[in-house]
Amino acid sequence: MDSVDKIIGKGYVDVEVDQSVDMVSEIARMRKEKNAIILAHYYQEGEIQEIADYVGDSLGLSRQAAKTDAEIIVFAGVHFMAETAKILAPDKKVLIPDLGAGCSLAESCPPEEFEAFIRQYPGHTIVTYVNTTAEIKAMTDIACTSGNALEIVSSLPPNEKIIFAPDRNLGNYIQRITGREMVIWDGACHVHEEFSLERILELKKEHPDARLIAHPECEKPILIAADYVGSTSQLLKFIMHDEAQKYIVATESGILHQMRKDKPGKTYIPAPPKDSTCGCSDCMFMKLITMKKIYNTLKYELPEITLDDEIIRRARKPILRMLEISEKLKL
Ligand code: 13P
Ligand code: SF4
Repeated sequence: MDSVDKIIGKGYVDVEVDQSVDMVSEIARMRKEKNAIILAHYYQEGEIQEIADYVGDSLGLSRQAAKTDAEIIVFAGVHFMAETAKILAPDKKVLIPDLGAGCSLAESCPPEEFEAFIRQYPGHTIVTYVNTTAEIKAMTDIACTSGNALEIVSSLPPNEKIIFAPDRNLGNYIQRITGREMVIWDGACHVHEEFSLERILELKKEHPDARLIAHPECEKPILIAADYVGSTSQLLKFIMHDEAQKYIVATESGILHQMRKDKPGKTYIPAPPKDSTCGCSDCMFMKLITMKKIYNTLKYELPEITLDDEIIRRARKPILRMLEISEKLKL
């Protein structure tokens, strides 16, 4: 085998796969042989969702990581999600097919700046969205995901002052609903801030029977215009029970795969972005994960997520607190 440096120099195992290899069946074989599981986020390409052992939102994926018996977790998602898996399952080998699969939201909250920020607000409880690095989680009192942020914030005593990071749109949305005293970090996601309200309203005119459904990372005007706001799994639940037949979907387009699978008879229109090179609403980080990279990752067991023991110890507390509250509230 080539040296580790050579094969993961680009952040992924850069080895050609012979055309004769049936990657889907080889992945299945290696997975069994190595006692590995593949966890995939709803924003992955459809073909990757199809080979995963579990597909879910960030909350569901962290629950799976915490309870798996597998020795290896291959995380088809972005870096902070794989880090969360490693924090919850430190004895497992956690692999991510491309180390470059970051997150603009997690990057918008650098640890040193955040440390200085929280020093300005003593006596505040620090709530952070899981879309953060392990270092930020290590400074956090309680973590949340878009699927439980509302309930996590509401579960805190009414007079508790809160720092919320890193997403300003999710933070402001929670503040509007709960009326809680919150200091909000000024971070955002490049995908969810890209949707164009003007173009969505034009689409609504063309499709007056379509309902607008949006992820809370979208900007305020979109959330106000939306018929329903929810995390990825909440949007999926909504389309299952709602009577409308057509939706304009304001979140990353990978979710459409699951929507079409769960409720095939309905029509799903991706919300248009203001401007983007692909003219779509893809998360460029999520889409760095490919079948070939998953195949090579399982084969070479690289790249691996490694974290300092002390960071794991400190970052674990806020995630476990979040999972406990979610469990209690049956979320
Ligand atoms: P979920 O919490 O809905 O999985 O969303 C994660 C995310 O990255 C949204 O952009
Ligand atoms: Fe991060 Fe946005 Fe991609 Fe979600 S869609 S992983 S928040 S960059």
